[in-house]
Amino acid sequence: MNDASVVLDAAAVFERARDLSPRRHTTGASDIAGLVEEQLEHFGIDPGTEYGKHLAGFAGHLYAANADLKLLWEQGAEELMGLARKDRIDRFSAQRFLAFQLAKILDTLQHPTRTAYQSLVNEPTDRARKGPYPIFDNLTALFSAKPVITRTATYIYACAEWVEDAFHGREMLHQIYSRLLNPTSISLANHIVDIECGKETGNYMAWNFNSGMAAVDAILSHLVGYQDIILASRNVYGGVYQLLEDWYGKTSNLDVGIEFFDGYSGEEFTAALSATEAKYADRIAQGRKIYVHVETPCNPHGLILDMPEISRISHERGHEVICDSTIGTPFLHRPLQREKLIERPDFVIHSYTKDISGHGATTAGCVIGRNERMFMPKNTSVEITDFAGNSRELNWNETLFWNVYYIKGAFLDADKAYEVINGLHTLDHRMVTKAINTLTLAEVLGNHPQINVNCSACKDHPNNAMLEKCMHLGLPVPLFTFDFEKGMDPQGGGGEFGHFSRLCFERFFDKLDPVFGHQVSLGTPNTIILCPAITSHSEMSKEALDGAGIAPTCIRVSVGLEDPRTLIAHLIEASRDTLDVEVAGFSGHFPGAGEIDEIYQRHYLDVHRRFIEHAPKFSEMLK
Ligand SMILES: Cc1ncc(COP(=O)(O)O)c(C=O)c1O
Repeated sequence: MNDASVVLDAAAVFERARDLSPRRHTTGASDIAGLVEEQLEHFGIDPGTEYGKHLAGFAGHLYAANADLKLLWEQGAEELMGLARKDRIDRFSAQRFLAFQLAKILDTLQHPTRTAYQSLVNEPTDRARKGPYPIFDNLTALFSAKPVITRTATYIYACAEWVEDAFHGREMLHQIYSRLLNPTSISLANHIVDIECGKETGNYMAWNFNSGMAAVDAILSHLVGYQDIILASRNVYGGVYQLLEDWYGKTSNLDVGIEFFDGYSGEEFTAALSATEAKYADRIAQGRKIYVHVETPCNPHGLILDMPEISRISHERGHEVICDSTIGTPFLHRPLQREKLIERPDFVIHSYTKDISGHGATTAGCVIGRNERMFMPKNTSVEITDFAGNSRELNWNETLFWNVYYIKGAFLDADKAYEVINGLHTLDHRMVTKAINTLTLAEVLGNHPQINVNCSACKDHPNNAMLEKCMHLGLPVPLFTFDFEKGMDPQGGGGEFGHFSRLCFERFFDKLDPVFGHQVSLGTPNTIILCPAITSHSEMSKEALDGAGIAPTCIRVSVGLEDPRTLIAHLIEASRDTLDVEVAGFSGHFPGAGEIDEIYQRHYLDVHRRFIEHAPKFSEMLK
């Protein structure tokens, strides 16, 4: 090794060591020995004493260890994916053990630090008032097999320079205030990206919010400005419809142009986009922008829009795209895993409240987007290139974190984040069971001559091709509607509520609980039903309801985990008691008992076959 490389190495080691220093930005040192000297001086420790010598020795090891670890990471990250599985196992185990060794060192440090603390806070009443000193008490929580529920508003600072970094988003270890960052919420944010993005994980980040609506509002308020235009898919959740029309569209708020498009295909979307561009040509000439908001699969029918095509068309015309993928869940709908970037929406939203948490016990939501759109340290910027090939500088204050999340306070607290993490363990199993149940219910109901089933899983449904194209394994979304309008005389006749009077229909509906839960929301373990026209979509006008295909007798089914035949048995019994009074023999037109068993068994086997045939081969697992 020649002299020049020795000098270079020492400088490189110093650069990798210095961020452990209490003077990481203002240090006058140029090597580890200098950093150690400064550290002792910073805390008023005399290096000439025995204690000072030991402290200096220990701090020197830490600085050197920090540099070594960074080199280990830099080298290891590059070659990792090219290594054989055996080597990746060995590396993981070796690194995991290092984490235990570091914790053991902290544990050893606990004893002198605790005694020093006790010597300073020496009145028992004072100790009680302050509570336990947290750093070392929390140490063993590192080995909790589940993420720890971090119930705190505030965090302890290391030193002035580190906390200043934390305020600028340059020190992610140092959380400041739980409204901004909280370890349990961050654990969930990392986890949802892992699940949603697959191989693309490294390119995406998530921020969690207190509800799905807070997530929708966060991304809209981040992007959309005064007199911009939102082009949204027609069948959005009623709350989103209300947010768009009643808040964003209101002239005294942002006076946003709110437009809705019908249909599911790229062609239908193109026509609507062209019409919107023409309608708002004046605003666009003034620099106002169009944003595309798509809910797919969508409320209330669970129908599917061509997300890759809508993203591609929007991007080619310079518009950004938001996809509310709540109903699909990351298991069924994987818009961020498309090979081509142009076919991916810019942001994906989930209401965790639904199938992701899966138990109907919490409200929460998130926004997922590319790293550079979500966060960067204060006062930094990156160069980005749009789909037309134009580049521009993107600044820190244009990220979702600083522009909205940091300021508005709709954060997700630790308890709720924990609940969502727990729910996610069983997501794919729940969705497979729900797929079987959806197919069974849709087929049995659809075989009745007076019932319309609006479900993309039905082979003759116009939306079926989109299901095959966009949903994982072509599996159905556990949300569909049915109504009692089939076979109605278009000239009139029948009742005011499909084939029935309103009272008769309501008697039938009221008898469905408790086997069908009478609840709003969706994505719970039990099957729940509602009438969109009088609940979730009641904010919509009669015309808007007609446009969205929501008839008065429309019943939305959010399919649960039960044996679907128990639901069918109850529904037939309820219709015998109520609907038969006005339409004689109505309950007799459902398939017979043997046929219902056959339908259930067929779907049970078929969905499991699709699932298992798609699972990776064992030979791939050995790689
Ligand atoms: C598709 C969709 N997006 C967003 C939301 C709002 O989520 P939350 O109820 O968690 O606010 C809902 C609620 O039903 C929904 O169905």
